[in-house]
Amino acid sequence: MELKLGKIPSQKGRIAIVTGANNGIGYEITVGLAKVGYKVILACRNIEKASSARNKIMQSIPEADLDILQLDLSDLYSVREFVNRYSESYQKLDVLVNNAGVMTYSEQKNAAGIELQFATNHLGHFALTSLLINHMPNDERSRIVSLSSVAHKSATIHFDDIECKNAKGYGAAYGQSKLACLMFGDELNRRLNKSDCKIRSLSVHPGVSDTGLFDEMSWIQSFLFKVLGSFMTHSSDKAAVPALYAALSSDVVGGDFYGPTGMGGLKGKLGVSKRSEYSKDMQVAEKLWDLSEELSGIEFTL
Ligand SMILES: NC(=O)c1ccc[n+]([C@@H]2O[C@H](COP(=O)([O-])OP(=O)(O)OC[C@H]3O[C@@H](n4cnc5c(N)ncnc54)[C@H](OP(=O)(O)O)[C@@H]3O)[C@@H](O)[C@H]2O)c1
Repeated sequence: MELKLGKIPSQKGRIAIVTGANNGIGYEITVGLAKVGYKVILACRNIEKASSARNKIMQSIPEADLDILQLDLSDLYSVREFVNRYSESYQKLDVLVNNAGVMTYSEQKNAAGIELQFATNHLGHFALTSLLINHMPNDERSRIVSLSSVAHKSATIHFDDIECKNAKGYGAAYGQSKLACLMFGDELNRRLNKSDCKIRSLSVHPGVSDTGLFDEMSWIQSFLFKVLGSFMTHSSDKAAVPALYAALSSDVVGGDFYGPTGMGGLKGKLGVSKRSEYSKDMQVAEKLWDLSEELSGIEFTL
């Protein structure tokens, strides 16, 4: 399994949205899509950061076709506003990359009182996808790509404690949110298949890359991460490869989970990744779907 951007024919005329496109992996996904001719909408919460990212990309790819639309995934009102603005300007959507994410080091909630990582990483993308899916052509090249993480492996969904207040282990709420991204991607693919829809939902994980995700680390965590980093991590352009493969390859199988397969999934050759047994539980996935509809107030119709 390999991604060769140079071998992909021009995708001019096709449109992609990348959430969190201004930094880290989302930035590199945007670069990759722009290189093959996609018009890319940078869906970012901070317009200034998005503008700098666009300017930087335009310097290396002058023909890049990029637009910016404001989106705060932690705020469902902002998600609806984004979709309204998108619908005013664009008739269709070919690829949606649900990339944006936060990893918090303290307990935080969104304005509606929902744990911030669950709200941003999962619920915002659940709402965004449900509101955009009817813009996508019923075609195998239409893709929804969800960014999960190896952190899903040690996680479960705490239906009675979605804030993970009583959960054991550091990072339980982040792991839960990334497990939710993976289970949402799977469940979406099953529902697309059931309704004879050709759009494909795929999940990926990027391995580990030293991006803005780790900015809130304490100095000691940061120091250890930098020291060990060179052995255990890879660059953000390499970390973007699984998502670009899921978005662009004609060989993908809906519902697959791609990522680097070396060193326990931290880096290395692209392949189909191992997932936890828990993540395969279809009853949990359905329950998560129902909870997501309840918390977002959005009924997901296909
Ligand atoms: N880096 C890794 O090792 C790693 C490992 C596994 C999974 N991942 C996943 O990969 C994805 C990309 O992360 P990254 O490593 O590239 O981190 P990053 O450099 O921090 O980028 C995250 C992006 O998400 C945006 N974002 C955060 N909260 C948002 C919100 N409420 N609304 C809209 N956008 C928001 C950020 O915007 P601002 O710039 O405004 O903050 C930024 O553009 C995430 O889903 C992450 O969970 C990363």
